[in-house]
Amino acid sequence: MTERTLVIVKPDGVERGLVGEVVKRIESKGYRLVTVDLLTPDRATLERHYAEHEGKPFFRPLVEFMSSGPVFAMVVEGDRVIAGFRSLAGATDPTVAAPGTIRGDLGREWDAPVMRNLVHGSDSEASAAREIAIWFPSL
Ligand code: RTP
Ligand code: MG
Repeated sequence: MTERTLVIVKPDGVERGLVGEVVKRIESKGYRLVTVDLLTPDRATLERHYAEHEGKPFFRPLVEFMSSGPVFAMVVEGDRVIAGFRSLAGATDPTVAAPGTIRGDLGREWDAPVMRNLVHGSDSEASAAREIAIWFPSL
């Protein structure tokens, strides 16, 4: 089943020069880039993107972190890519993410808390549609 998902290389990943590494893993798996953008997102965009987390203790710090510098956003297409990219990314907490995953291989323990975990990937078909509309309204 061909799906689309929203993937973001977060500011820590862009700053560390890991955009190419993330794209390589995505393309090597057979997924296709539909569109990409390098931008520093504004708070309003991020508050919409992370609406499900509003009120949680990490919400404000997360919005601050995500607006602190450029991110690399992309729409990725492929067979069951929503779950597939989540599995490439690994567990949310890079200190426990499995080796072989983006967060497990590249996440650094001293970058804790969990927030600095390099990548975002939509977690369901509904989230993917919602997030793609926020980041790429012309698609
Ligand atoms: P993402 O949305 O970024 O793909 O990551 P996820 O589904 O694995 O994690 P989620 O629960 O949706 O949380 C969104 C992002 O918030 C930060 N976070 N910090 N306890 C904490 O300090 C905490 N928990 C979550 C992470 O940046 C996480 O990716
Ligand atoms: Mg999430």
